[in-house]
Amino acid sequence: MSRTVVSVGLGQRAYDVLIGPGLIDGAGALVSPLLRKQRVAVVTDANVGDYHGERLAWALEKAGIAVDTIVMPAGEATKSFEGLADLSARLLALKLDRGDLIVAFGGGVVGDLAGFAAAIYKRGIGFIQVPTTLLAQVDSSVGGKTAIDTPQGKNLIGAFHQPRLVLADLDVLATLPDREMACGYAEVVKYGLLGDAGFFEWLEVNGAKVLERENAALAYAVAHSVRMKAEIVAEDEHETGRRALLNLGHTFGHALEAETGFGDEFKHGEAVAAGCVLALAFSAQLGLCPQEDASRAAAVLKAAHLPTTLSDLPRQGMSADALIDHMAQDKKADGGKLTFILSRSIGDAFVARDVDVASLRAFLIAQGAQA
Ligand code: GLY
Repeated sequence: MSRTVVSVGLGQRAYDVLIGPGLIDGAGALVSPLLRKQRVAVVTDANVGDYHGERLAWALEKAGIAVDTIVMPAGEATKSFEGLADLSARLLALKLDRGDLIVAFGGGVVGDLAGFAAAIYKRGIGFIQVPTTLLAQVDSSVGGKTAIDTPQGKNLIGAFHQPRLVLADLDVLATLPDREMACGYAEVVKYGLLGDAGFFEWLEVNGAKVLERENAALAYAVAHSVRMKAEIVAEDEHETGRRALLNLGHTFGHALEAETGFGDEFKHGEAVAAGCVLALAFSAQLGLCPQEDASRAAAVLKAAHLPTTLSDLPRQGMSADALIDHMAQDKKADGGKLTFILSRSIGDAFVARDVDVASLRAFLIAQGAQA
């Protein structure tokens, strides 16, 4: 299996995303040219450290790079002010300076936290993403969104801080639990739904091969997703326009997560899956998109054992008004009007501002939410 390079074209802050096998073992030669002093701090979590930690440190050290490893507790709770304070103190104790680099080695939690710490450490230090989940490889490690969660909501405190390099090593996905694989797959399907009907059709045929980690299918799905994301980020880095399309399914999804309690019981990728289907079904109810397209989206995600309806969720009896309150607080709410990513058809999503709350409420009740 060969290596694919996708460039994120951001002028002076442009960087490459490398996708392929063997990237962790080859990390020394890939990272070394980016370093002024041959020194990095690897930030990881206990789970990733147990599986792959030694391999990355060894690969870097073999190339003459001094490595300090910081192991954070695994889980979303680490992506908090407390986690940020802890990580910052540990980075300061290492006396890293601006010529050094942080390597974020893990899933979305590690990438978002370490990336945000890099954005503010001594007013900004470079960092590299080495994502170890499918979700992080196709979405969160690319594009420079970094953040922590607060009691008010997810990702509300953060910064845009682009990595210098992303190494998406497909080998690590072999040991990823099936449920995590499905969560990343929800984001892959999202790309087809938001902007590429041909890719969605390819997933209708080849999705099972991706989930089974068949080499060629997996490499194609990751590379295609990253290419789509890189192209959108290069055009709209700070989400003033088209980048918002990447939030397809996320307004519904975040509300479902908030009502379910941001835990292991209901994961972000599962929320995105249900959220994408709800976004297409809502579009169909508004007469914007054929109902058949919502059904096709649901079928592809259901085949990956992802939730697609409110009745699939671990918490039943959610109130329509509580869900709408979460949506109104979501950072995509603008001036009290609800903003959604809706769809005209598979592959043709658009930003809809000023969505009518009464229609939304009626839709949620028809989907099984409590009046
Ligand atoms: N995850 C959506 C974005 O990066 O814009």
